[in-house]
Amino acid sequence: MAVAVPERVELAESLVEFINEWKDQPGNLIMVLHRTQLEYGYLPEPVVMEVARQLGTPASKLFGVATFYNYFKLTPPGRNRIAVCLGTACYLKGAGELTDTFSDQLDVAVNGVTEDKEFSLEGVRCVGCCGLAPVVMVNGEVHGKLKPDGVQGVIEKYRNGQGE
Ligand code: FES
Repeated sequence: MAVAVPERVELAESLVEFINEWKDQPGNLIMVLHRTQLEYGYLPEPVVMEVARQLGTPASKLFGVATFYNYFKLTPPGRNRIAVCLGTACYLKGAGELTDTFSDQLDVAVNGVTEDKEFSLEGVRCVGCCGLAPVVMVNGEVHGKLKPDGVQGVIEKYRNGQGE
């Protein structure tokens, strides 16, 4: 779930500690961006600016990394985050068709958010439960062996907060 970002950004203490810990280590930009996204659900611009300041790195460099990797999100996800696993096992068992079905039924593109901000749709790498392929996670909850005709039921479960 995305966290609202206040006007003036004061980073969470644990994030500041993480930045200090990683500041001078190689590969730190990805680690720090990853930790930041965990904190906020995405990478809000003012937060990235503040992170860059604390790292002593130009913000443009951080935005460069964030836009290069599909994993990083610069816009807030939907209230319900649908992640279709596109790992090999899931792909072979129809994850592509599942993605298309979610996309059609919600009228949203992959990596997009529905107009009412209820749902976002994305493809992710193996989520580690290949025995249940094809797997879809909604807000971190696993839906395994999902068929296209089960997609509507999953959507209805979460629409209007019913899945909470
Ligand atoms: S490939 Fe989908 S859970 Fe592993």
